[in-house]
Amino acid sequence: MSNDPRPDSPLFARKPLALLLEEAKGENRLRRVLGPVQLTALGVGAIIGAGIFVATGAAAHNIAGPSLMVSYVIAGITCIFAALCYAEFAAMVPVAGSAYTYAYATLGELFAWIIGWDLILEYGVSSAAVATGWSAYFQSAVSNIGIHIPKLVSESPWKYDPATGHFASTGAVMNLPALIIVAIITAILVKGIQESATFNGVMVAIKVAAVLFVIGVGAFFINTTNWHPFAPFGWTGISFFGHHVAGQVDGGGAPIGTMAGAAIIFFAYIGFDSVSTHAEEAKNPQRDVPIGIIVSLVVCTFLYIAVVAVLTGMVKFDHLDINAPVSIAFRQNGMPWAEGLIATAGVAGITSVLLVMMLSGPRVFLAMARDGLLPKATFGDVHPKFRTPWKSTMLVGCFVGILAGFLPIDALLHLANIGTLLAFVIVCAAVLIMRKKHPEAERPFRCPWVPFVPVMGVLSCLMLMFSLPVANWWRLIAWLALGFVIYFFYGKKHSVMRKQNA
Ligand code: ALA
Repeated sequence: MSNDPRPDSPLFARKPLALLLEEAKGENRLRRVLGPVQLTALGVGAIIGAGIFVATGAAAHNIAGPSLMVSYVIAGITCIFAALCYAEFAAMVPVAGSAYTYAYATLGELFAWIIGWDLILEYGVSSAAVATGWSAYFQSAVSNIGIHIPKLVSESPWKYDPATGHFASTGAVMNLPALIIVAIITAILVKGIQESATFNGVMVAIKVAAVLFVIGVGAFFINTTNWHPFAPFGWTGISFFGHHVAGQVDGGGAPIGTMAGAAIIFFAYIGFDSVSTHAEEAKNPQRDVPIGIIVSLVVCTFLYIAVVAVLTGMVKFDHLDINAPVSIAFRQNGMPWAEGLIATAGVAGITSVLLVMMLSGPRVFLAMARDGLLPKATFGDVHPKFRTPWKSTMLVGCFVGILAGFLPIDALLHLANIGTLLAFVIVCAAVLIMRKKHPEAERPFRCPWVPFVPVMGVLSCLMLMFSLPVANWWRLIAWLALGFVIYFFYGKKHSVMRKQNA
C-alpha cells in the first residue's frame, strides 16, 4: 500500500496494508465468530440507548422543543456521511482498531495516535455517560415497585444548570448504581465476546420491541397541538469557540435551537462506528462490516425520528421529564403499566449500549499496543483462555467507573460528542486522501459520490462541533495534549514501525 517505505518523517510513517492483513493472521488474535446479523445487532446494540431514552428529554425541554425531530434528521444525515466513509475503510482494512488502524495505513503514525487517543476518549466517556443514563432509568424502573435509592448515592455530586451555565452541587456524593453497572459489565467482558454477543442479542431484541411499542402505542396519544410552537428556541444555535454566531443562547451563553439540539442528540447515534472495531472477530469482514455499520445506522435513524415525533406529540415539550422522558410520557398519558414496561426495557437497552461501548475501547488499546505505541504487557495482553484483552478491559472499567460515578451526564455527553465528531472528521478526510494517493487500492466497499460525501461529512461534523458549548473544545484540547505527551515520551520511542524502518 505504502509506495514509500522510507517516508520523509517517521512521524508520518504509514503502516502498509499488506502488513496489517498479515498481522491479523498471526498469534494472539481474537476469534472470528460474528456474522452480518450479529454485527448489525452489535451496531443497534451500541446505538439505541441513553441518547434516545434519556438525553431526548432535556434536549427537547431546554434546547430544541418539538423541532428535535429535525435535530435527529440533521445528526442522522451527518452520521450517514461518516458511516459511508467508515464502511469504505472497514472493508479495506478489516482488522481490530477501527479508525485508528485506517489512519495508520493512510495518514501516518502521528495521526493514528491522535485518532486512537481520541477514540479512547469517545468510547470511555460515552460509556460513562451511558452508565449515568442507565442509572436514571434503573431508578425510574425500581421506583415503580417502591424501591428508592438513597439520594446521597443516587447521582453525581454536580449538575449543569442551563439557567446559569454553571455546575451546581446536587447534595449527593456519587452515582452508585452507575458505578455498579460498570463493574458488572467489565466482569462480563473479561469473560468473552461469544457470551457477550449472545447477551447483546437478547438485550437488542428487548429494546427494539420497546421502541416499536413506544411508536405503535404512543401514536394513538399524539395531540398535534403539542407540536406548536415547533421550534420555540429557533432553528439554529451555533457558536464559534464561545462566540455567538447564530440563534439563541441559554443563561450560560451555550447555544440553543434546532442545530444545537442536533449537536447534543448526536450522542444517540454514537456506536455504529464501533461495529468496525469488531472486524477482526467477523467471519467475513469485507462484506459484513459495511453491512453492519450502514444497516444499523439507517434503522436507528428512522426509529429515532418516529420516537421523537410521538413523544413530543404525547407530551408538551416543556412537560417532558428530564431523566426518563420516554417511560414517563406514558404515565403522563394515564398508562402507568406501560411506564414500568418501558423503563425495564430501557434498562435492558441501555445495558447493551454499555456492553458494546466498553467492548470497543480495549480493542483500540489492543491495536495501539500491538504497534508499540502503548505498553504491550498491559494493553496488548490477550487472556490465554478467554481470548479477550482482559487487562485493558479492567483498566477501561476503572476509568469509566470513576467518570460515571462522579460526573453529570451533560458534561460526559458533550465531551463524548466532540471526541466522536473529531474522529469522524479525520475518517472522512482520510477517505479523500486515500482515494487521491492510492486510487489503485482494493476497496471491497466504495463510499458513493466521492468527494461530495466525505466533504459533507467533514463540514457537517465541524458544524455540530461548533454548536457544542465551548468548554468542550478546551477539554478536548487538554485530552489531546495529554496524548501528545504520552506519544512523545513513550509511543514514539517504542513504535514497532519506527524500529522496522530504522
Ligand atoms: N448512542 C448511544 C446511546 O444513545 C451511545 O446511548
